[in-house]
Order: sequence, then C-alpha cells, then structure tokens
Amino acid sequence: MEILKRRILEDGACFEGGILKVDSFINHQMDPQLMKSIADEFVKRFSGIYINKIMTIEASGIAPAIMVGYQMQLPVVFAKKKEPKTMRHALTSIVHSFTKDRDYPVSISGEYLTPEDHVLCIDDFLANGNAALGMIDLINQAGATLAGMGFIIEKEFQNGGHILREKGIHVESLAIIKSLDNCQIAFK
Ligand code: G4P
Ligand code: NA
Ligand code: NA
Repeated sequence: MEILKRRILEDGACFEGGILKVDSFINHQMDPQLMKSIADEFVKRFSGIYINKIMTIEASGIAPAIMVGYQMQLPVVFAKKKEPKTMRHALTSIVHSFTKDRDYPVSISGEYLTPEDHVLCIDDFLANGNAALGMIDLINQAGATLAGMGFIIEKEFQNGGHILREKGIHVESLAIIKSLDNCQIAFK
C-alpha cells in the first residue's frame, strides 16, 4: 500500500533492536484519514470471504479494527490485557512479549466470541506473532472460525508472518518491512 509506505518513510523512526516507531500516525497520535484508507485496503483484500466479526487486542489494534468494522458494518471485539474479574464466561490465553520480555494474559468474553463467528483479526504490528497466536487460541477456545488476519505493518525479519502462513492462515500485511538494519527502513 503505497501511501502507507510513503508515510512510514516520511514519519517513521527506527529504534534499537528492530523497532519501528510510528507514534505520530498510528501508535500515539493517530491519522483517521490514513486509518480509513488502511481499512478500505483491508476490505478490498478480504472481499469475497465470509466474515461476521472483527477482532483485535487492546490498545493499538482498536483504531484500525473499528475502522474496518465500520466499513464492513460488522461488530468489533477486542481482547483485554487485564485479568478478567467481572467478565462473564471469560476465555483467556497467555501471550509472551519479546519486546517487554514478560507474559501477559489476554481475555475475551465467550458472550462476544461464539461458534457462529467467522472472525477477521486486525492489528497494528506483526512481529514475532505471539499476540496473533493469542488471538487464534481465543478463537479456538470459543469454537469460532478464523477467516483471516490483517496487519498494518509486518516486520518480515521476525518470525510471525512465517508462522501464521505456515498454518495456512490468510494473512494480509499492508506494509512489509524486510529490514531495519543500520536504522534504514527497507520494504519488501
Ligand atoms: P508479537 O506480538 O508479534 O509477538 O510481538 P511482540 O510480542 O514483540 O510485540 C509486543 C507489542 O509490541 C505489541 O503491542 C506489538 O504490536 C508491538 N510491536 C512489535 N514490534 C513493534 C515495532 O516495531 N514497533 C511498534 N511501534 N510496536 C511494535 P502491544 O505491546 O500489545 O501494545 P499496544 O497494542 O497496547 O500498543
Ligand atoms: Na498491537
Ligand atoms: Na503496539
């Protein structure tokens, strides 16, 4: 997706350890016009596939997910990172974050993820894929069906994309970064 790649080159910053900072338009301040274009691109790439629910993980996945849900006129549900105390029929998976080197729970209510659901997962980043695997685990626990997974930015030099495609999952990433070596942003 050209306008996204251009924006990443213009406003993205590279950090130690293969981290791309996009705080001015995705992760902190957000650009709704760009988010709308991102959602339109996801709608195009997943057209013809039966989907009746959009799913993501808080926090940064919510903005693109709700834009996709708006365009597809579908409900959007997000997995929460806090231990469920008052959640009814909580389903929980443990995600390991490489970036933060710790495990955290992700939970979703079985009231909002059911065997009737055909789910499109949307998230900002695909890195090692652990957050994505947490979403897949929740979908499996609920007996729902995974229809596909869409990411704004995929870091190809980490393993997530490989793991998900190996499982036969329909993965669409709108900007695929081949390398961030020497703090140079190189696209695939
Ligand atoms: P994984 O989910 O793909 O396995 O990756 P990892 O555990 O390393 O990522 C943990 C968090 O860091 C996720 O957000 C993920 O979106 C984000 N992330 C991974 N690589 C990058 C990167 O290069 N740049 C930025 N900006 N974020 C990255 P999170 O901690 O769940 O936070 P949030 O969604 O609440 O913002
Ligand atoms: Na995220
Ligand atoms: Na993030």
